[in-house]
Amino acid sequence: MTLTQLVYASRSRLVEAERSVEIPRILASAQRLNELNGITGFLLVTPGGFAQILEGEGDSVVETYGRIMADPRHGDLRLLQQATAIERRFAGWTMGMAERDPTTEFIFGLYGISADADIFDQQLDTIVDLAGQLAAHPA
Ligand SMILES: Cc1cc2nc3c(=O)[nH]c(=O)nc-3n(C[C@H](O)[C@H](O)[C@H](O)COP(=O)(O)O)c2cc1C
Repeated sequence: MTLTQLVYASRSRLVEAERSVEIPRILASAQRLNELNGITGFLLVTPGGFAQILEGEGDSVVETYGRIMADPRHGDLRLLQQATAIERRFAGWTMGMAERDPTTEFIFGLYGISADADIFDQQLDTIVDLAGQLAAHPA
């Protein structure tokens, strides 16, 4: 099996009033599908955007990204990386998730994502390192 890691960022089309209902729904659906497809990873959420790391067998990752691209809750999608990986970085997570909120604000801030910055505009390394940090220290 060839392990693939895919990283993307997107603008969120969620409206404020729906966020608290939609985000747990997205996560539950992602975890259920990823369990079936052998996908692991991490999802970062800010008010304006999403960034996600998907790891798994190449075909499964491509199929999952196809489903994500078709989801109307995303606006623009930026594919930041699709590469072969040696090992899973988020092996324990069918999909971990962290939202920028009062408990994670400080850690997002350390990576330059302050109140007026958004995950959509961040570089690949920032996204992967921040997700790794948040996965190691869940709120
Ligand atoms: C932010 C975001 C993250 C998502 N992550 C995944 C994922 O990790 N795996 C997956 O299979 N689908 C993912 N999706 C796609 C949706 O879960 C999927 O299109 C749809 O909700 C699945 O159908 P259901 O919720 O009606 O079961 C994601 C969608 C969004 C908006």
